[in-house]
Amino acid sequence: MGHVIAIDGPAGAGKSTIARSLAEKLGYVYIDSGAMYRAVALWAIRQNIDPGDAHRVEQLARAADIELLPLRTVRLNNEDVSEAIRVPEVSAAASRVAAIGAVRAALVAKQKRMADRANVVMEGRDIGTVVFPDARVKIFLDANPLERVRRRAGEQPQVPPEQLAEQIARRDERDRQRAESPLVQAPDAVYLDSTGLTPEEVEEEILKLVRARISNGKERH
Ligand code: CDP
Repeated sequence: MGHVIAIDGPAGAGKSTIARSLAEKLGYVYIDSGAMYRAVALWAIRQNIDPGDAHRVEQLARAADIELLPLRTVRLNNEDVSEAIRVPEVSAAASRVAAIGAVRAALVAKQKRMADRANVVMEGRDIGTVVFPDARVKIFLDANPLERVRRRAGEQPQVPPEQLAEQIARRDERDRQRAESPLVQAPDAVYLDSTGLTPEEVEEEILKLVRARISNGKERH
């Protein structure tokens, strides 16, 4: 297995922005685990399957051919779904399918395979706690709820901010309260609050850790 940098945290904390630029800077592969839950949720919606139907959604999660390509391109069964997975309906359904243990098991197996031979920056909710408990660098990236809604509102101007706030609060609550791999900070993760920080400042903090824990950010031979 290569080196893993795990970045977990709630919606809108800035995980994607930071994880992507960090991966580029270090020459690591960027993996957005949330996109995988979103892809399964999209498939369920299209098949008219209730996102809470554990048995049927598990079958989809096992069968799904999910590719994470550069430039945030996501392919599901050979179709580009990069934009389709970002709509609010899919965000809500993603957090419902993510509460199903068997769905998580299927996707975690895929995530582990992705890090078999590469150095990766992986973002999600359970990367430092469950997927890669031995990750070299673990970050729990947070920001205050208002700031997180403000950031999402910038990305999704078509959704009224009050609606967005409610959706994010409901999803966070579900992600934190679920029995299977809830969103929680790993005991050995470094907590970073990105409220009021620029992406460059957050990145610099993480790079300091990377330099300390992975010699100069380069592979040890
Ligand atoms: O980008 P955003 O933070 O809004 O969400 P995401 O990372 O795309 O994840 C969508 C949903 O997938 C989350 O609300 C979680 O319910 C779930 N998820 C998870 O359970 N475990 C992960 N490692 C990643 C995402």
